Amino acid sequence: MLEQVNVLMNKALEELGQAPLDLKWLQDFDVRVLGKKGDLTLLLRETGKLPDAERPSFGAKVNAAKLAVLEKLNELRAKAEAKALAGRLESERIDVTLPGTALPLGSIHPINRIQQEICDVFERLGFNVESGPELEDEFHNFDALNVPTDHPARDGMDSYYLGGKVLRTHTSSVQVRVMKKRKPPIRMIAPGRVYRRDAIDATHGAQFHQVEGLAVDTFGQVRFSDLKGTLESFTRLMFGRRLGVRLRPSHFGFTEPSVEVDVQCFQCQGKGCGLCKKSGFIEIGGAGMVHPNVFAAVGYEPEAYSGFAFGMGVERIAMLRWGINDIRLFTENDPRFLSQF
Ligand code: FA5
Repeated sequence: MLEQVNVLMNKALEELGQAPLDLKWLQDFDVRVLGKKGDLTLLLRETGKLPDAERPSFGAKVNAAKLAVLEKLNELRAKAEAKALAGRLESERIDVTLPGTALPLGSIHPINRIQQEICDVFERLGFNVESGPELEDEFHNFDALNVPTDHPARDGMDSYYLGGKVLRTHTSSVQVRVMKKRKPPIRMIAPGRVYRRDAIDATHGAQFHQVEGLAVDTFGQVRFSDLKGTLESFTRLMFGRRLGVRLRPSHFGFTEPSVEVDVQCFQCQGKGCGLCKKSGFIEIGGAGMVHPNVFAAVGYEPEAYSGFAFGMGVERIAMLRWGINDIRLFTENDPRFLSQF
């Protein structure tokens, strides 16, 4: 029987000598040879058949054989584990020196960007930013602004109506809300979206943005020259150079006198080019001195105050700034256009 112990041990060690460095294989071997039903363990059960004197040395011999096999097995296990770890590290290796995959970056929409810049410029000039609802009542959009009830702008052909209200046709509605809320002095601007049933072309949208401005103080404190100076400071800060401002007589119910505001074409500096249709100027908005009827509508004593107001088109200013010749580009969502900003 002692001989058999040696045979089994040598057979096991020989098998381990050619074993693959594979953890699963080594585990199976462990069960098969050293486990409860393994060859060497079963041999221990034979101890009872031996004479008493031989039992201890036989048991010791079997245990020593098992230990020798176990030592070799553990040695191989350690190597197999190291090999598996090296394999894993290699397959999961990250090369931090490889260039990254660049994701396409978004940017602020040019209209939002220009609108923010306009606000920044007027804030530097002492105006604060106000807002109002896009769905307005006729009082704030028309009545309080001295727009007669039979004015064509009120017609359903010119404005969008929704549930008894009107989608505001200009941001001037916000000046009414602010004056009703506060007493002068007031210096405010109101940026926002407006809606008109205009025929859409290269310079007209049915939905566009305006910035309304209003300055009111006690009578005589705000004059027409302040309006002109403010618009000139605005164009200088906005376009980074001294562009001429031209005021043409016009008519708005809410201002008297009223003017149309043109800015010298930034591309040709007034000489006349394709962008300004050879006129040397581009219209950016309307303006004037606040009509006494507007003061009366908001509860101000008309003789006690004077003020100027202006309203300009944000898209037109963006077109001026970047030399864009079609307003529709702003709403077409073409990434080739938008990614330039
Ligand atoms: C007004 O909307 C007046 N509320 C401006 C105003 C305010 C005058 C305060 C006096 C005192 P107007 O309709 O001209 O005015 O529009 C002002 C500007 O909005 C225009 O000069 C133009 O730059 C822009 N605009 C007008 N219609 C469109 C349109 N369909 N698409 C794009 N921009 C437009």
